Amino acid sequence: MEIVLRDIHKHYGPVRANDGISLTVSSGTVHGILGENGAGKSTLMKILAGFTRRTGGEIRLDGRPIFCDTPAQASGLGIGMLYQDPLDFPLLTVLENFKLGHPENDFHTLRDRLDRISRRFDFALNPDAPVRPLTIGERQQLEILRLLELGTRILILDEPTTGISATQKTLLFKALRQLAEEGRSVILVSHKLEDVEALCDSVTVLRSGKVTGRMETPFHAHRLMEMMFGAPPAKPARCATSPGEPVLALEGIFAAGGRTGLKGCSAIIRQGEVVGLAGLEGSGQGVFLRVAAGLKKPLEGCIRLKGEHMTGRDHHAFKTAGVHFLPGSRLEEGLIPHMSIVEHTALRKGARERGAFWIRWQDAYRDARRRIADFRIKGGGPDAAAASLSGGNQQRLLLSFLAENPALLLLENPTRGLDIESAHWVWGHLQSQCSESRATIVFSSAELDEILMVADRVMVFFDGAIIKDVRTSETDVGRLGLAIAGKV
Ligand SMILES: Nc1ncnc2c1ncn2[C@@H]1O[C@H](COP(=O)(O)OP(=O)(O)OP(=O)(O)O)[C@@H](O)[C@H]1O
Ligand SMILES: [Mg+2]
Repeated sequence: MEIVLRDIHKHYGPVRANDGISLTVSSGTVHGILGENGAGKSTLMKILAGFTRRTGGEIRLDGRPIFCDTPAQASGLGIGMLYQDPLDFPLLTVLENFKLGHPENDFHTLRDRLDRISRRFDFALNPDAPVRPLTIGERQQLEILRLLELGTRILILDEPTTGISATQKTLLFKALRQLAEEGRSVILVSHKLEDVEALCDSVTVLRSGKVTGRMETPFHAHRLMEMMFGAPPAKPARCATSPGEPVLALEGIFAAGGRTGLKGCSAIIRQGEVVGLAGLEGSGQGVFLRVAAGLKKPLEGCIRLKGEHMTGRDHHAFKTAGVHFLPGSRLEEGLIPHMSIVEHTALRKGARERGAFWIRWQDAYRDARRRIADFRIKGGGPDAAAASLSGGNQQRLLLSFLAENPALLLLENPTRGLDIESAHWVWGHLQSQCSESRATIVFSSAELDEILMVADRVMVFFDGAIIKDVRTSETDVGRLGLAIAGKV
């Protein structure tokens, strides 16, 4: 099935999210859409999937113009999309989610189908498990299977590799190649060059709503970077730190949550350190960060902050002690999707000036504009709703709410969804913020390269335990990769 997009426009007021984009995707191929944060990738794909209506332009399928104004129409034409932020129902089970949109009503038959299609792609999903505690990778697998079961012939995946483990990525890419070999078209949206290099047959690069280039394999990485950013981005400079007194000490922590919980974790984090948490997604890193932030009470074990006993105290007490936590799921835990940037700032201000009843909107706008400028948040100004920002810009907004002088920053996948230029910028910002105040950073990341680039020390989680704790200067991607798989 050949898809041709011709001169697609999408305007949101003054924002030209898509500004005359044309591209062709042949059947049986994997086509990449590459571009920096806010380039217009998700908008273009939402138009193709019937989620968003275009302002202008034409879409043809095998030469015939099509009208896909709703996701149901698009689905009827065989177009299915895996969205950047999961659109599943977390409170339902895997099987119940799999049923969504499916004409079959008999759960026994559905269970068989799910089982068969999971085996075909090597995905291991328990039909009766609730979706909420699943990893992002597993939720994606479920959604892909659901879309395929509905007869999707053009599968669009929006940033499917952000926040999933290397193993899950290998599985996913194998499944996607398999789909292309069966004659389906796969469109992979990403801002990661390595994804495109590993999987795609051809790529279109977008920037500021326009096409800046196209390329077929073999790809020329340097040239693609130029098409994305204008020039290849510079890496943040690392400054060596000498760790000070212990800031956070965890002893024998057992905690529930996530896929594995924590099973007897002990760690000491010292002032000024940058510590990366590696591991397959859901191996305990998220629970570790939440326990350290006072958001999750351990079942057993003891927590000390700068020597003071904090076990059993609430998040507010941790915050008062200078601990700041940034969650990984932006639209679920971090931001309030339909509130604007200025409303988010007003909420913060309200919290800061306790006792004040009225919101001083003038101040809130000034504050919002400052954040937009400092964090280079693109996409519509102070009145833009958080959900309307591109994924990368939502992350920048979240980062702009980090406390100014924290003692301990706990960051869950802080650069998830950020393009390389933005990720480097964020680390540059965090490093300069923290080097002044000698703050400590503990962050989780699915990218080993990132951990090796910015962290002083790495702790590898496996099945709820820390199985390796080593200075980054004394390890490499290969050795960390083995540890992540439980082979120390
Ligand atoms: N519903 C909306 N209302 C207003 N502006 C929007 C809306 N959706 C997208 N935009 C704007 O359109 C532009 C393109 O956004 P889009 O989400 O398509 O970018 P992207 O390339 O997917 O970026 P990312 O890599 O960060 O996900 C951004 O400036 C964004 O703020
Ligand atoms: Mg996007």
